[in-house]
Amino acid sequence: KRVAILISGGGSNMLRLVEDMTGDHPCRPVLVASNDPAAGGLAKASQMGVPIAAVDHRHFRGDRAGFEAALLEPLLQAAPDIICLAGFMRILTPDFVQRFQGRMLNIHPSLLPKYPGLHTHARAIEAGDAEAGATVHLVTPDLDAGPILGQTRVPVLAGDTPDTLAARVLVREHQLYPAALRRFAAGDHTPLYL
Ligand code: GRF
Repeated sequence: KRVAILISGGGSNMLRLVEDMTGDHPCRPVLVASNDPAAGGLAKASQMGVPIAAVDHRHFRGDRAGFEAALLEPLLQAAPDIICLAGFMRILTPDFVQRFQGRMLNIHPSLLPKYPGLHTHARAIEAGDAEAGATVHLVTPDLDAGPILGQTRVPVLAGDTPDTLAARVLVREHQLYPAALRRFAAGDHTPLYL
């Protein structure tokens, strides 16, 4: 299966996905694309021999459809079977989502359905939750609301800040996402709990 990965920043999740797609893995990375030409993950992907593309969303201020049309060019060129959003920080229109619905995955740093959207770790700490974590889900037009493909839980510890909690969750994201992609690519959509 051909996998394209969309990033906005360092791409630590992208890195683990690309590193996992070797040997007898049913997938291969065919593109890493970003909405930020300066995204650190682009250099890492390129070093690993994965084709890259960047479409600067700042060139399309207020024109979401224009940005997505520009992003679709390299994306359709790569002809992905599966798209993985990994630290991708742009909201995609229903039109774009519907093109790939059922084969576009995202990782979100909360135990969905709790805390869709931003600042998830701060909200979990604020709420006094005993646990936090991350979720891999299929992308639907509603933000962070699609069918869950995987979830991983960590304890929230006394004295946690959003940064210390994020660091604890990120380690588990790096285990969850590759495992969830393997399972999904094998045609198994049962949720994976790590
Ligand atoms: C991670 O917390 C991930 O859950 C969220 O973006 C953050 C950074 O991801 N989607 P990455 O290091 O760019 O993969």
